[in-house]
Amino acid sequence: MAATELISALLLLLLICSSDISSSEKTRRPEPCKRLVLYFHDILYNGKNAQNATSAIVGSPAWGNKTTLAVPNRFGDVVVFDDPITLDNSFRSTPVGRAQGFYLYDKKEIFTAWFGFSFVFNSTRVKGTINFAGADDIMKTTRDLSVVGGTGDFFMTRGIATLMTDAFEEDRYFRLRVDVKLYECY
Ligand SMILES: *[C@@H]1O[C@H](CO)[C@@H](O)[C@H](O)[C@H]1NC(C)=O
Ligand SMILES: *[C@@H]1O[C@H](CO)[C@@H](O)[C@H](O)[C@H]1NC(C)=O
Ligand SMILES: *[C@@H]1O[C@H](CO)[C@@H](O)[C@H](O)[C@H]1NC(C)=O
Repeated sequence: MAATELISALLLLLLICSSDISSSEKTRRPEPCKRLVLYFHDILYNGKNAQNATSAIVGSPAWGNKTTLAVPNRFGDVVVFDDPITLDNSFRSTPVGRAQGFYLYDKKEIFTAWFGFSFVFNSTRVKGTINFAGADDIMKTTRDLSVVGGTGDFFMTRGIATLMTDAFEEDRYFRLRVDVKLYECY
């Protein structure tokens, strides 16, 4: 009896201590060493827009196909993209790089995706990549992806990218605002 009480008291103490640590860690979060706000534009191939499509469904569930997003909630579709990145929200602006990778829709009940992609920069001013991975809870106004690494001007970087859907037109087009906060810069 006494032993179990002692154990639960110890456990409680441990819990309090660990929550103390996490709250003090939160207040000690560093400022980003580099911050970039960029936009990327995705035009999904729908069977008719081969000229200006920048992404394509490459995998669909058995009940779907590769020109129409699957029902329900696009579940099971895998999309590969090579999207222009711009400094402002205009699709017509000169691209500063490409967002290249894939997203897949991974929940039947609601609309969510998983993203794995890179920002690829190959201009005279910026060269290198920033690599992103993580869950995208599309129905939320903002959602965070991990910046898992980088190369070139972004050598070995890490951080957080906050995504916002800046615009969308049904299933054809979306534009994401990406606020990249890097916490490791070399
Ligand atoms: C893509 O091309 C189609 C057909 O030319 C055009 O109607 C549409 O506006 C274009 N989409 C974008 C986002 O430019
Ligand atoms: C794909 O599926 C949609 C929705 O079921 C259908 O309208 C369309 O005709 C299909 N396209 C092809 C190429 O099978
Ligand atoms: C990057 O730019 C250089 C110089 O313009 C070019 O030679 C090279 O092919 C480009 N690389 C890619 C992957 O586009």
